[in-house]
Amino acid sequence: MRETTGNETTYEIKREFMSIAAPVLENPVVASLSRYKHHGGKTRLDHVKEVAWLSFLLGKRFSLDYRAMVRGALLHDLFFYDWLHEGPRLHGFRHHNIALENAKKITALSPKEKDIIKKHMWPLTIVPPRYTESLIVCMVDTFCSVTDYLGVKRQ
Ligand SMILES: [Fe+2]
Ligand SMILES: [Fe+2]
Repeated sequence: MRETTGNETTYEIKREFMSIAAPVLENPVVASLSRYKHHGGKTRLDHVKEVAWLSFLLGKRFSLDYRAMVRGALLHDLFFYDWLHEGPRLHGFRHHNIALENAKKITALSPKEKDIIKKHMWPLTIVPPRYTESLIVCMVDTFCSVTDYLGVKRQ
């Protein structure tokens, strides 16, 4: 039996999420994130999928542009190095731009999707998110990262 949430079943919600996420996840460049550890024993692919899923649920709940949130979240950490041991100095202050440049190479991005990627390290990177969608993805990213470090289990 399918669970229901309001008028939509869980199956329908997941199917809608996958209809947005699948074209991004099928890109071999994005799929290669499974080769990189991120934090809390997760791969970077696990992390971006988690941020995308939670952002999607919040985006739907608050009637936001959840398509941009899913795509931006899936691409927000699109960099290809083990940030603990290699990559540029001051990774935390720079990888949002690296991810944005890499994302631009594989797909056309809307202004909102660009902002989601570019501002996801706010307030570390000073300039605040321009859209509510960017702010929420940024907060979800922080939430996922902190709970990964604390070892909190999520479904
Ligand atoms: Fe990041
Ligand atoms: Fe992240």
